[in-house]
Amino acid sequence: MPTKASKPSQKQAENRHEELKKLIRHHDELYHTLDQPEISDFDYDQLFTELLALETEYPNLNTNDSPSHRVGGAAIDQFQKVAHRKPMLSLANSYSTDDLIEFDERVKKFLRFEKESTEKIEYFAELKLDGLSMELVYEDGLLVRALTRGDGIIGEDVTHNVKTIKTIPLKLKTKKPPKLLEVRGEVLIFKKDFIDLNQKNEELGQMVFANPRNAAAGTIRQLDPKIAATRPLKFMAYALGETDGITFKSQENISETLHEFGLPILSKDLVVRSDDIEDIVNYYHDIEKKRPHLEFDIDGIVVKVNSLEKQEDLGLVARSPRWATAAKFKPEQAETIIEDIVVQVGRTGALTPVAIMAPVKVGGVTITNATLHNQDEIDRKDVRIGDTVYIQRAGDVIPEVVGVVLSKRKKSSVPFLVPDHCPACGTKAVKEPEDAVSRCPNPFCKAVLKESIKHFVSRRAMNVEKVGDKLIETFVNNDLVENFSDLYKLEKDTLLGLERQGEKSIDNILKSLEASKKTTLAKFIYALGIRFVGEQTAKLIADHYITIEDFLKTDAEELEKVPEIGPKVSTAILYFLKDKRWQTELKNLLKAGIEFEKPKRSNEGPLKGFSFLVTGTLPVKREQAQQFIEENGGKLLSSVSSKLSYLVVGDDPGSKVDKAQTLGVKMLSWEELQALV
Ligand code: IVH
Repeated sequence: MPTKASKPSQKQAENRHEELKKLIRHHDELYHTLDQPEISDFDYDQLFTELLALETEYPNLNTNDSPSHRVGGAAIDQFQKVAHRKPMLSLANSYSTDDLIEFDERVKKFLRFEKESTEKIEYFAELKLDGLSMELVYEDGLLVRALTRGDGIIGEDVTHNVKTIKTIPLKLKTKKPPKLLEVRGEVLIFKKDFIDLNQKNEELGQMVFANPRNAAAGTIRQLDPKIAATRPLKFMAYALGETDGITFKSQENISETLHEFGLPILSKDLVVRSDDIEDIVNYYHDIEKKRPHLEFDIDGIVVKVNSLEKQEDLGLVARSPRWATAAKFKPEQAETIIEDIVVQVGRTGALTPVAIMAPVKVGGVTITNATLHNQDEIDRKDVRIGDTVYIQRAGDVIPEVVGVVLSKRKKSSVPFLVPDHCPACGTKAVKEPEDAVSRCPNPFCKAVLKESIKHFVSRRAMNVEKVGDKLIETFVNNDLVENFSDLYKLEKDTLLGLERQGEKSIDNILKSLEASKKTTLAKFIYALGIRFVGEQTAKLIADHYITIEDFLKTDAEELEKVPEIGPKVSTAILYFLKDKRWQTELKNLLKAGIEFEKPKRSNEGPLKGFSFLVTGTLPVKREQAQQFIEENGGKLLSSVSSKLSYLVVGDDPGSKVDKAQTLGVKMLSWEELQALV
């Protein structure tokens, strides 16, 4: 904390400065290079502010090796390092609206406006996106390079990954592209996509990310673009680097032009332009209220002098431009105590440690538990029972332990170890080398059964509306249900014997079970909870086999004909289908009267047996093209792979064309596709 009370002595200042440099370097590396921050941005900013304050007080401390001379993290080795034509700066920032007023005064003073003068400066304010800053270099309208910020002077060439971001045009949408246009903006993952991604990764036993920013940064740093291509990255443009052959008048003009060129920018209702700083202050409060409801993470607002001419006059100071500032929001963080760490058993047997905390409010929501994911995560953060911790809501949604307040740790505390036996049934847990978690291998484990049934009845699976978690607990604890098909054998009299169940609610339970029997093959396959078979894969399987009978007698060769199914998934499916107990269970389920709706799609037609993917702008709407394909018996895929029969290519196609070329997938224009039919 910057101490205003008494000025430290030269010696004290030197010592503290040395300490701060070390701390900041350490946290820079954690944040920028390893994507594993241990402290909040707020705490980091406090350290930085203290460092700058000391250097102002004692200018001799401001040596070349001070982090105040740098703008970000160092580039990591594997990527080619490329110098930015113009340095990528950072912004002065603060956590209070008073600083916005001061910013306005500073700007006016610098531009030599008289005190009391009524001359106005127009500001353009927008969201401070909490992702990964990126520079896109367009030469003659073509995307030739994408660079991370790196240390602000030299970035990393991550073009291969950035090209997989679908909303980034590979070619600018303009007849007369400028010779050079460097677009700066933020790579992001939307909150909703982040939750899906982590859920999927958790199911597959892969790495889970602490928050969307880390997920985006981790993805951009992958050496293999195939990984990036499967991650839901987005991009939002907000500034320029070097340009040649194009000029702009204002910040707003930059945004509008970039939008015309086909680059994603913030929508109009999320930005503001005004020549009254009070409006900007109101905008700050307004956005702070909207923050939890936005689709992506932000950590404040950025205010820029709108006129580029004035920006030029204002110039730079140290590491930031004088014409812009950031006002951050106080983090939605809180301190609490970990009262216990319990280990939950998931549907796939995964043993997940969960921190149970003294209830605390974060961003208006009371939080009591947070997943700690796995032993590696626990070790990395060194979280122990009894620890005082900082928590926040990652992606404003999922509670997450940010770090331990070590100074408050009790002497008696011991590291936490995830037990090597299933806490529910006592079976020895198994950890596969490529798996992040250990799992209970007992197929009769009650905890696994409960979770499997919760999945079976869930809305996107069998959709048994009236059977909730509590009821499932009761069913399993009372040995009424030992597998899925037992649900359909439940009788009114048995249910009446359970506490707190009235006759009417029992009728409703039975009715909803009955109704769930009418389903689709895709939902049924998804409901079975076969390892690695999510909703999308289940749909593809259903499309391929059409009937349950054909699916049940499949083999490896046939399974791998299903798009997007490789050896790993096919092995898991066969393992499931060959299991005697599952075979009996499937028979029982079908005997219970599960009925499949006919798939809506016509599977007949000239395109039968071929798969398609549409990319770029076609003369008709994309949905129309897709409908046309399905109506004529074709199948739609979601990515380019060697299993794709045809890529249908329109104008301004993305990276899919490159991939199709590499894999030798045939390409068609819309006209050629119609001719096929
Ligand atoms: S303008 C001189 N606009 O904040 C910097 N930056 O601390 C000009 N950021 O590295 C950048 N949202 O990654 C600008 N709407 C926005 C932004 C934004 C987030 C990031 C950017 C930059 C950092 C500055």
